[in-house]
Amino acid sequence: MSVADETGYEKNLPEPIRRYLDNAATSWPKPPEVFTAWEQAGRVIGAAAGRATYREAMEADAIRTRCRAAVARLLGDVDPQRVAFPAGATLGLNMAIHGLLRSGDHVIATAADHNATLRPLTWLADRGVIELTIVPCDGAGRVDPDLVAQAWRPATRLVVCSHASNVTGAVQDARALGQIAHDRDGLFLLDAAQSLGQIPFTADVCHADLIVAPSHKWLLGPAGTGILWARSGIDLDPLIQGGTGSASDSLAMPARFTDRMEAGTPDLPALAGLLAATGWLAAQSIDAIGRRCRGLAANAAARLGAIAGVRVIGTHAASPRAEHGEASVGIVSFTVEGYDPAEVAALLEQLAGVQVRSGFHCAACIHAHLGTQSGGTVRASFGPFNTGDDVDAIVAAVQKLR
Ligand SMILES: Cc1ncc(COP(=O)(O)O)c(C=O)c1O
Repeated sequence: MSVADETGYEKNLPEPIRRYLDNAATSWPKPPEVFTAWEQAGRVIGAAAGRATYREAMEADAIRTRCRAAVARLLGDVDPQRVAFPAGATLGLNMAIHGLLRSGDHVIATAADHNATLRPLTWLADRGVIELTIVPCDGAGRVDPDLVAQAWRPATRLVVCSHASNVTGAVQDARALGQIAHDRDGLFLLDAAQSLGQIPFTADVCHADLIVAPSHKWLLGPAGTGILWARSGIDLDPLIQGGTGSASDSLAMPARFTDRMEAGTPDLPALAGLLAATGWLAAQSIDAIGRRCRGLAANAAARLGAIAGVRVIGTHAASPRAEHGEASVGIVSFTVEGYDPAEVAALLEQLAGVQVRSGFHCAACIHAHLGTQSGGTVRASFGPFNTGDDVDAIVAAVQKLR
């Protein structure tokens, strides 16, 4: 029985059927429990967490605390007091990068990374604050860890890497990258936007010092919040300063990590939704969900690749495990000869209600390595509520184009 069958959720899909294959942008639908918790927190609780002592405010605070504990468990039983909730992954990555780096630091990033890390790093490099090396990836979007080791310099402080490419789905060998950084007394920042919720991994196994992920992608939570975890002992300057509901008579930001990283009123409905999502993920098992999504993507990749004039980018072995760079997440990118990717995306929706993303996918460097500089790719990304029918639909629609 599939995850979709078990929940019965597909029965509630609006008509006409929308074949949503853009889960790498944001997952949809969410588990029903997520929508319920999200709405309830806004409609019934309606209070700011960590600010007051009336009943609903305490309840709001308890939700945030439970969410911290659930995320800490998800990352491999890390300290919940080192889990902060920025308003998304982009903000979390900026907080990590700007909060950590100092003048003269050298940073190693990869060509497969997302602009959410590459742009803040380039910003700092262009202003002479840091030096930046971007190591290349191969034609599937995979990074050879040896290239990171070779790029190491005495001033290298940080390795940054998107765990899974949002363009090809390729999973990097995070464990090897983290090991390289640690062996040289450097730090490792893992952008887990496309892996957390798809691949079972822990902060420890990946030798990660900082992990960032959004709530709204593979964690199946709402947009509006995300995760920033930093190992104990890592001091981040707060990028955003303001009210925290604590030490309010002081002009200085508090020392406690969560307060320091969470100035401003938290998005309680998003946290309630994320808490419900972590429960759902635990019940279904991330391993099972990831295998299912990878299986759908591998099936689509094999069948699309068999159509004349279609080029599938990356490798999509439906490996049962994808922990350390062996396989991919539920993403398949392709091009269709004679069509611009944007045209393909528009036609897929017209022909079959298939909703995909096209273009460069907010990843500035990878396309030169994939050979997709002229227009990028068409990207289909499969979530736990997609089925084999969705694969059939996209394959049939692309066949029609050809
Ligand atoms: C690898 C990766 N990192 C970071 C982000 C940024 O996430 P958000 O847009 O939710 O802030 C994305 C979004 O697509 C991504 O794919």
